[in-house]
Amino acid sequence: MSQGQIVAGVLAPHPPHLIYAENPPQNEPRSQGGWDVLRWGYERLRRDLKDHAIDVIVVHSPHWKTVTGTHVLGCPEFSGLSVDPIFPNLFRYHYELTVDVELAQAIVREGAAEGVVMSLMENPDFRVDYGTIISCHLVRPAFDIPIVAISSARTFYDFGNDAGTHEMLALGRATRRAIEASGKRALLLASNSLSHRHFVKEPEVVEDMSREHIYHHGQYLWDMHVIELMKTGRCKQLLDEMPDFIEQATSECKEGSLQWLLGALEVPDYPAEVYGYGSVIGTGNAVIGWHPARGVSA
Ligand SMILES: [Fe+2]
Repeated sequence: MSQGQIVAGVLAPHPPHLIYAENPPQNEPRSQGGWDVLRWGYERLRRDLKDHAIDVIVVHSPHWKTVTGTHVLGCPEFSGLSVDPIFPNLFRYHYELTVDVELAQAIVREGAAEGVVMSLMENPDFRVDYGTIISCHLVRPAFDIPIVAISSARTFYDFGNDAGTHEMLALGRATRRAIEASGKRALLLASNSLSHRHFVKEPEVVEDMSREHIYHHGQYLWDMHVIELMKTGRCKQLLDEMPDFIEQATSECKEGSLQWLLGALEVPDYPAEVYGYGSVIGTGNAVIGWHPARGVSA
């Protein structure tokens, strides 16, 4: 068996609005569109990923929140109706997905070897969180590749941003080792947004783009700085500045997905590809890909 590899890692944020806007058959509500630039970014990402043969998608989601350690989906299939608790008017999505249980078990083992508290989630009636579903849909709407889904633990909240980042880098290393030993070609998705200060009042027409804009100039400046670091291969600096970014931009990076991804990619020093950036209810969302085989040192 040849060694497995991470074929690409993607920052793949999960606003339900992006699925709502496209009216796929799985989602009940109907819309008139909206958030086009971000959706075009995902379109371009999907075209780019067609060059890769992918055996499994591994996703870390901010919206599967676990109190005791990190959990990993561990049943062969899940199906159900996913309703966004904040936006039930936009997202009532019928999902069916399969899980690579063997790889999930390996990530649990490797994570534990790194000292991370890990559990396999083996309840077949479990309702998969909408962050996992939305990121996977936006990258691969057919759901024709098995996934491994990883929860976000409370370390950032219980022990601080430095401790959280430290743990996520360890979980990323563990994920990489499990993939390499599996012989599989994996696509990794970090499901979080960047800045995350948002509106508290929804417009009457949700997809009215005259109402959509970044909430605060400081949030925009932080997002552009973080994206510039990724574009220029300065992910080590990004990790160093991450605790400030989390606090000053109320960033969804506080759930750890991006740090996990950077750990799995061995903290890239090569440029990332920016597929798109845009605000959704004022939050900053960037679709960004790392392609290790194309990577060159910045
Ligand atoms: Fe979110």
